[in-house]
Amino acid sequence: MTFMRGIRTLAALMAFSLLLNGCARSDLVLDDFERDSFLPWIPLGTAFALGPAGGAIGDQRPVASFHGSRLVNTFSYGDGATGYLISPEFTIERKYINFLIGGGNIPGSACLELYIGGEKVASATGTASHGGDSEHLRWVSWNVMPYIGRSARIVVVDQATDAWGHLAVDYIVQSDRRAMKTTDNPKVQEAWNSVLGAVSWAEEDPRRPTYHFRPPALWMNDPNAPLLYEGWYHLFYQHNPFGDRWDTMYWGHARSRDMVTWEHLPVALWPSIELGEVGAWSGCAALDEKGKPMLFYTSIKASPSARDYAEQWIVRPRDEDLIAWEKPPANPIMTPAINGDQIIYEWRDPFMFRLRDRAYMVLGGNIQTAADQYRGVVALYEGADPTLGNWQYRGILYQHPTEANIECPNFFPLGDQFVLVMSLPGWRAEYTVGTFNEQSGTFAPRHSGMIDHGEWYYAPTSTIDAEGRRVMWGWVRGFPDDKGWNGVQSLPRILTLAEDGGLNFEPLPALQKLRGKHTRIGPMNVNDGTTVISQVQGDTLELRLTIEAGSANRFGLLVRTNENGVGGTAIVCDGSEVRVDGDERLYRLQAPGAPVDLRVFLDRSVIEIFVNGRACFTRVIDVPPDHQSIALFAEGGKARLSQFDAWAMSTAFPEERGNLEQWSSNRGD
Ligand code: FRU
Repeated sequence: MTFMRGIRTLAALMAFSLLLNGCARSDLVLDDFERDSFLPWIPLGTAFALGPAGGAIGDQRPVASFHGSRLVNTFSYGDGATGYLISPEFTIERKYINFLIGGGNIPGSACLELYIGGEKVASATGTASHGGDSEHLRWVSWNVMPYIGRSARIVVVDQATDAWGHLAVDYIVQSDRRAMKTTDNPKVQEAWNSVLGAVSWAEEDPRRPTYHFRPPALWMNDPNAPLLYEGWYHLFYQHNPFGDRWDTMYWGHARSRDMVTWEHLPVALWPSIELGEVGAWSGCAALDEKGKPMLFYTSIKASPSARDYAEQWIVRPRDEDLIAWEKPPANPIMTPAINGDQIIYEWRDPFMFRLRDRAYMVLGGNIQTAADQYRGVVALYEGADPTLGNWQYRGILYQHPTEANIECPNFFPLGDQFVLVMSLPGWRAEYTVGTFNEQSGTFAPRHSGMIDHGEWYYAPTSTIDAEGRRVMWGWVRGFPDDKGWNGVQSLPRILTLAEDGGLNFEPLPALQKLRGKHTRIGPMNVNDGTTVISQVQGDTLELRLTIEAGSANRFGLLVRTNENGVGGTAIVCDGSEVRVDGDERLYRLQAPGAPVDLRVFLDRSVIEIFVNGRACFTRVIDVPPDHQSIALFAEGGKARLSQFDAWAMSTAFPEERGNLEQWSSNRGD
């Protein structure tokens, strides 16, 4: 029961972080239902068996994320059975009543109700993160501050007899902290409801990746503002919550304990149309002088003029869980006037970094040169005081020698060097390693390379994780339209300095948690022609192999072929170069002829490839869903495979409907 153990650990961690909140008194558990009988609760009707259930009942779908090993489950005699389960009287002693609830979303008929003095004051139903019915229990909080000191009863109501006419309830706790905040911002609610309403549409597409990060549904582009705060990694993203194409930009939001599995949170940022804002574009996160998170983003204005095209804004959280956000009146924190006489076109995408006690920010865009050309630039700003609300323009940090624009710059120290990451026209994400002269505010580039060799990867951004590593995500783009979703994030990559002055890339080691069934093959010779690896099937796989030319001229791997090795996408090596399926962008091996180490992450319509830990290729593929085979090939001789490991991969969203079975079967539970 690895999955349930994970959930219990998560619940324990949540309880622990609740406890850590200094002024909060300890929680009072009203009931955890870890026993054979409901008593002292009183069951009425047929919806309840003799006592709390151990999980799903009969042919019910798997019930997950309850606390401990028992819960209240009104599916005892199927959806048709009805009844009430009435709690003993208790006194309200904390600000909130938190509980886990799942099952039908049928207000009034399948719900949990709170009664004070005989009057119903609160009610909740089972809702998934996507708003529909779900057997996955979620935290809900009732604010009971007005009733502190009053006596109360809780009633589990099941009067619903149709589909989903049942409820699951567990772990009812009085607490001084909400289990999970929701937001009362109507713009955000409208956006979030729209996203949740599109989940079924997005779920229909068999090409939608399962272990790459993506929203519950609809459009996503750039990753924004990755942030570690109080043990959670928060990831935001450019999001159109009303469609599956790029349009007016909001920020989506999710969080994770490990950057591997994710929990979706409500939409975080919205465009303030009433203030003339037409989009909340990319940005970054930081902790302020009090250690509290804040977000920076580019507020896009309707104006076509470079002088008032964009402003830089800050956003602050309204709660400790970072669910609800507000735009403080101090905004904007930067207008184009900060650049003085220097007009910077497409001035956007703030990225902040700190050096000792100084805060710096970079912004991308382009300038018109004396020769009347437009050149991409990265502009540098320095914090004028510790609030991060006042900035000074330091000048142009870097001007690109050839490219007409720079988007989403990242600039950060790595080892004893500085790295500048740029997204360039033609869907290219590149880096330059060099030195930063703090005095003059300039960057001297030394070694350049590609963050990714595919045009399907763009606008990466990064943060420092709990272990001090530089972790990067990039937007994987180029999926078909009209599928109810579009866009995922690349797997988190760790960046380190390579010996030759470039960058090494490694997939986050914790991704191994997603590994399920393992198959090992070889060592063996790969004969001239195509050899199907019949032991490995699937479209959500991690593959790791070491292969060398032997007597072959070309060799490599085919993924998503049919069972005869026909079709699919080829990763081709000729001994000195690696490329994917004839793409122009290739990686020249540093040691031609040496064995090549390939790590390949296949996730339905996305392939992410790491070559020798030095080069990455991301590719969106369009193949028939029944092409589930892997093959090796050699041309002109025999290649030599010294190692081949394959793992079935589980989903990054264990809580999503339909994924629970996959999660537990892959993990051998
Ligand atoms: C990069 C980008 C950014 C901008 C955002 C808008 O993909 O164009 O420069 O902030 O997307 O969604």
